[in-house]
Amino acid sequence: MTAVKTLGQFIIEKQADFPYAKGELSRLLRDIGIAAKIVNREVNKAGLVDILGDAGTMNVQGEGQKKLDVYANEQFISALRSGGECCVVASEENDECVYIESEISKNAKYIVAIDPLDGSSNIDVNVAIGTIFSIYRRQSSEGKPRISDVLQKGREQVAAGYVIYGSSTMLVYTTGKGVNGFTLDPSIGEFCLSHPNMRIPKDGKIYSINEGNYVHFPQGVKDYIKYCQEENADSGRPYTSRYTGSMVADIHRNLIKGGIFLYPVSSAYPKGKLRLVYECNPMAFILEQAGGVATDGVNRILDIVPDHLHQRSAIFLGSQNMVAKLSEFLTASGLTSYRIDKVISAP
Ligand code: AHG
Ligand code: MN
Ligand code: MN
Repeated sequence: MTAVKTLGQFIIEKQADFPYAKGELSRLLRDIGIAAKIVNREVNKAGLVDILGDAGTMNVQGEGQKKLDVYANEQFISALRSGGECCVVASEENDECVYIESEISKNAKYIVAIDPLDGSSNIDVNVAIGTIFSIYRRQSSEGKPRISDVLQKGREQVAAGYVIYGSSTMLVYTTGKGVNGFTLDPSIGEFCLSHPNMRIPKDGKIYSINEGNYVHFPQGVKDYIKYCQEENADSGRPYTSRYTGSMVADIHRNLIKGGIFLYPVSSAYPKGKLRLVYECNPMAFILEQAGGVATDGVNRILDIVPDHLHQRSAIFLGSQNMVAKLSEFLTASGLTSYRIDKVISAP
């Protein structure tokens, strides 16, 4: 019989990978795991209690908040507050950074950026949703943390992960030494190692994009979509199209099976829709750690310098060869810089 390894056991074991670690990051990951279980409990009974639907409020991006968005945000922040290892939380659901100034957090070294509930439009219809998180080490040494502590390049992340509340609940994370996935066993209430050392296949046959926006896409993206739909026995085309509207679910599937996820700039979202700090960067870090690639069409996602908390970015990520093929189409369409505002003014 194979022994079950829980997330808690795994985190402690892996602490040895960081010789100077004092256990703070381990405790932080543990805190996130605990909050994920609490959110999972509410997600699972969403239809039974008065937790479906709109909260009647808006977040800073003018998007209506669902009750579960608000609930998940509160749970993660409160777990991070009581854990004592996090000094600032940057959340999709809060206009400004949330500074944690309690006594136990006064020496806290870590910053957490979070999308507490990803795929909100799927909450009321029982489609998989998620949580995305990203962890940075604070750079400033004393006083109140600065905004520059939060706006670090994605490549400075010390850990990142997501939780998928799907047909089962999983937590997948990296600390820069590969990617590991844990499935929640509801009978013992523990995340158990189920997907050790996850690797995304170099090639794939799935493309994930909201094709309803096709007319608004830049030419290079349109050309790539047509390429995916063409018949070609050698490369196994036409490819399969899969898109749920929950980034976590779409990327999780592509990570396991091989594929590409695309959210380009469009006339509706001239800078892209997805948020760099708490959606694109953590997913890019995870995918790179699993052997994949993540770009905004020109730049590696993890090299972009964020200039504000809720900044958006175009993003293309997934299997190496698929992203490389897309890049050929973007280049062939004559884009020197893949930003539609520049593209529109190009000759
Ligand atoms: P959120 O629910 O955190 O606002 O994120 C929704 C995101 C992402 O999960 C998904 O891939 C994308 O928005 C879907 O957007 P479209 O409906 O425009 O395709
Ligand atoms: Mn999201
Ligand atoms: Mn969200």
